[in-house]
Amino acid sequence: MVEFALPANSKIGPGTVHPAPKGAKNPRRFKIYRWSAAEEGAQQENPRVDTYTLDLAATGPMVLDALIKIKNEVDATLTFRRSCREGVCGSCAMNIDGQNTLACTKPIEDVKDDVKIYPLPHLAVVKDLVPDMTRFYAQHASIEPWIKTESAAPDRERLQSPEERAKLDGLYECILCACCSTSCPSYWWNSERYLGPAALLQAYRWIADSRDESAGERLDALEDPFRLYRCHTIMNCTQTCPKHLNPAKAIGEVKKLVVERR
Ligand code: SF4
Ligand code: SF4
Ligand code: FES
Repeated sequence: MVEFALPANSKIGPGTVHPAPKGAKNPRRFKIYRWSAAEEGAQQENPRVDTYTLDLAATGPMVLDALIKIKNEVDATLTFRRSCREGVCGSCAMNIDGQNTLACTKPIEDVKDDVKIYPLPHLAVVKDLVPDMTRFYAQHASIEPWIKTESAAPDRERLQSPEERAKLDGLYECILCACCSTSCPSYWWNSERYLGPAALLQAYRWIADSRDESAGERLDALEDPFRLYRCHTIMNCTQTCPKHLNPAKAIGEVKKLVVERR
């Protein structure tokens, strides 16, 4: 039988344990992945999982509240991204309790046991819960996420009927958090060539826009065995999207349009 083993420098080592504050009424453990790409050579330490026990009686209700409390009051070295704290900016995406989601909209009480927090999977880690999103953003830029027109600009805004506008529902709400793409097995193994569900949902958002005049050109760019057809309808993307969008359906619509125009 073939045996697989992690390289020695990627094995997760023992982490630091931060005890509960004195007199904690409702203690809960948070186990958080720690690693920094900035340290090099002999300075480079293996990843570890640190344990922080907080008193939930003195912590806000969301996982992001716990992370902020840890950073402010227990361990200022803990690194994570966040901005809006209300599910709008997409920057606090991480893997919580085994699922990619937004820390700011994930209630701590939804997690039954210890709250395990890791960075989004299958992206290089910059530090702790901060992954390298460079390729993800480049893929979004590659689908040219803006209205492209050939007709002369009208004197006023380009109008849409309510029905045309309704076609963008379920698409425009995407906050580019990357929860979907980083839960997609096809994206894990082919992210250098497969665009992934987030970029493909965005591509369809512009194809479906009645004001855009470049659907043919956009479909040309997508019709490729890897860029589009690495989606095998596994549906992890749709299952994990914290905005309840359906990237798999959007990808299906793109595939349908490619077939229809043949
Ligand atoms: S489709 Fe959902 S999971 Fe994917 S990037 Fe957009 S909001 Fe995030
Ligand atoms: S449906 Fe497609 S994009 Fe979504 S997880 Fe599956 S393979 Fe990935
Ligand atoms: S902080 Fe903006 S989505 Fe969570």
